[in-house]
Amino acid sequence: MVLPHQNFHTEHFEFREEASMTEKKRALVTGITGQDGSYISELLLEKGYEVHGIIRRTSTFNTDRIDHIYVDPHKEGASLFLHYGDLTDGTTIRRIIEDVKPHEIYNLGAQSHVRVSFDSPEYTSDCVGMGALRILEAIRDYQQRTGNEVRFYQAGSSEMFGKVKAVPQSEETPFYPRSPYACAKVFAHWQTVNYRESYDLFACNGILFNHESPRRGETFVTRKITRAVARIVAGTQDKIYMGNLDAKRDWGYAKDYVEAMWLMLQQEKADDYVVATGETHSVKEFLEVAFGHVNLDWNKYVAFDERYLRPTEVDLLIGAPAKAQTKLNWKPSVTFKELVQKMVDADLQALGLESPGGLVKDAAVIRDRIATGAI
Ligand code: NAP
Ligand code: GDD
Repeated sequence: MVLPHQNFHTEHFEFREEASMTEKKRALVTGITGQDGSYISELLLEKGYEVHGIIRRTSTFNTDRIDHIYVDPHKEGASLFLHYGDLTDGTTIRRIIEDVKPHEIYNLGAQSHVRVSFDSPEYTSDCVGMGALRILEAIRDYQQRTGNEVRFYQAGSSEMFGKVKAVPQSEETPFYPRSPYACAKVFAHWQTVNYRESYDLFACNGILFNHESPRRGETFVTRKITRAVARIVAGTQDKIYMGNLDAKRDWGYAKDYVEAMWLMLQQEKADDYVVATGETHSVKEFLEVAFGHVNLDWNKYVAFDERYLRPTEVDLLIGAPAKAQTKLNWKPSVTFKELVQKMVDADLQALGLESPGGLVKDAAVIRDRIATGAI
């Protein structure tokens, strides 16, 4: 779908006026083009919200993850509006908040790759740490001036636990960040707490453990693996180069996790919550399940490349989601194995590797079919 990018900012004024007459709840989402941004937007639209997203101006379209929910704002019933802005640019953030007058803000925008944050620590800190502060300051002023409450969700991360001080990690576990990204998230976390306590803002920190999906960015380990499995099956890739396979993560399904974000902002009191499955698995286990799903032995395809190591690693993450379960009545719906298989299936499908009767789970059978032109 082609989006009328040049008109995003100017056109939303008239549409906002229309929307205000119907008194829809308005949400503003930073990072709307990312994995979580796309899922939360779907959820909010389903719930009848008017959704506004901040996108960065890019020379090529980067809205793939939200193209399926985007409706031309000229059409009646359009509820998704996009605005150009950047978390490193406080003026645009402020202006968009003033224009949109959101009831809820989900701050999901970030340079979210941990390894990359070691190469670009200043930019990562600006976008992740200062970005959150810029929004909090804009909300504080807007709320004080207008009296309109804006509820704020900050996308915190289990990376903040880093060199973990307790196993499993809960809301009470002290942080020990191990990367520029994690340091910036800790800064954003405490600013959020501080604005809640200083100015009585309804501001929540979600401390989310790793969550994945077929929409996960291709350079995060899970998607890198599931994409490689599909390409290896298709014969377009023969190896996958990786770093530390012993790291353990608490991996859940992104669609479940955005529900928890929304629930946090619907509570009577603002608070902070760990969102996790309570299970941990190594990168090796992920490889086993992903390659095993198409009957391949991962050992034959994985090679080591030290470029994927990090100067400091987070060895073990496992969350204790009891508070989210009790207070938000939230629980994950997808198991580790189901998640891995869902991602492999989606990557196979993306390459057209599907049999009429459903997915073929055997790499050899799929290869035969490719060779004979059947798929
Ligand atoms: P993602 O797929 O990497 O998406 C990041 C989003 O932020 C993209 O829309 C990106 O825009 C946008 N962005 C990057 N730099 C920006 C800037 N300077 N100004 C405005 N927007 C910017 O991340 P995700 O997995 O959806 O995660 C969402 C949030 O949750 C992030 O804050 C992440 O740090 C945090 N988090 C994620 C996980 C996880 O496991 N997924 C766990 C804990 C916390 P472009 O499309 O233009 O790049
Ligand atoms: N990306 C990547 N690529 N990671 C690899 C590779 C590789 O080739 N080989 C091994 N790993 C290891 C990393 O060293 C890390 O221990 C683990 O796989 C997971 O890496 P990522 O998938 O990049 O995720 P992450 O855990 O560092 O960070 C993600 O989760 C955080 C929540 O805990 C990101 O989504 C962060 O934004 C998020 O905050």
